[in-house]
Amino acid sequence: MSTSGIVYRPRRLRTTPRMRRLAAETRLHAADLVLPLFVKEGLTEPAPIASMPGQVQHTEATLADAVTAAARAGVGGVMLFGIPAVRDARGTAGDAPDGILQRGIRIAREAVAAAEAETGRPGPVVMADTCLDEFTDHGHCGVLTRDGAVDNDATLERYATTAVAQAKAGAEVVSPSGMMDGQVAVIRDALDDAGFEDVSILAYSAKYASAFYGPFREAVDSALQGDRRTYQMDAANAREGLREADLDIAEGADMVMVKPAGPSLDVLRGVADRAEVPVAAYQVSGEYAMIEAAAANGWIDRRGAVLESVLAIKRAGADVILTYWALEIADWLAGAS
Ligand code: PBG
Repeated sequence: MSTSGIVYRPRRLRTTPRMRRLAAETRLHAADLVLPLFVKEGLTEPAPIASMPGQVQHTEATLADAVTAAARAGVGGVMLFGIPAVRDARGTAGDAPDGILQRGIRIAREAVAAAEAETGRPGPVVMADTCLDEFTDHGHCGVLTRDGAVDNDATLERYATTAVAQAKAGAEVVSPSGMMDGQVAVIRDALDDAGFEDVSILAYSAKYASAFYGPFREAVDSALQGDRRTYQMDAANAREGLREADLDIAEGADMVMVKPAGPSLDVLRGVADRAEVPVAAYQVSGEYAMIEAAAANGWIDRRGAVLESVLAIKRAGADVILTYWALEIADWLAGAS
């Protein structure tokens, strides 16, 4: 032994940038990332979302541009949300064949096909949020009973027709995010009955009732009064998150999701350790807004914080990461900026 008495020196692998690069256990890749995009019916210009600086509600035309940019940057997927012009108690616009989200899906598929022809590389997978909250006038993720409770089983029928409408429009992945019990099984049945055996389900499995969804509510002009605590999970519960993921996999989910990502890294790790399907995590609007706000004030290094926050989600076990920075990170990784 040397005179120092120190046998192990982990710092050796940190000595140079090339050594650190070689020794990295985790690395980000554009193909891991999914970009959430909002398209709003009747817009003529993209509308900035004040609480999510840099993000907008898209017109149909600018949605196509955003999908094209994602394709050129090698982003793995896009997750589409639609904001209709008219809302009602049942969320009728959600499964209308020409509803805004269905229109957005068709536009996205066309943009992906064109970009693939141009680049010769796979474009982003087109995914759709399968929920009712953007389409209901009360803002809940389901239909209500006469006394105002969210009716689980009546909502399932709406999710089934919504998923089929999305598949007909060309969605490759439907993503039930409403946390109704049994939603994956019902959607799988409906898709199969309609001949969409190859459309995948990304289940929002462990979705917590979170204060970090705040800016998203502005992004979708949410009508919600009150909260979603009778269907979304209590942040106190980790085991229950594992159970929700197990149930969704048993019902036929092709991929499962934990959300919000940063505040639920323990649950993400737990799901990743037991699931035999790809695991996604959603870095939500509030996580985005916090870093943007701190960076805008000069309190934090923006690029460093963005990359560290997403890397930590991957390190905790996410195979797929939904993040509003997907496009920017993909450009950074490509060395383009
Ligand atoms: C529900 C849905 C929400 C988000 C994704 N899907 C809102 C909610 O559950 O209240 C939140 C995403 C984010 O905050 O970035 N359709």
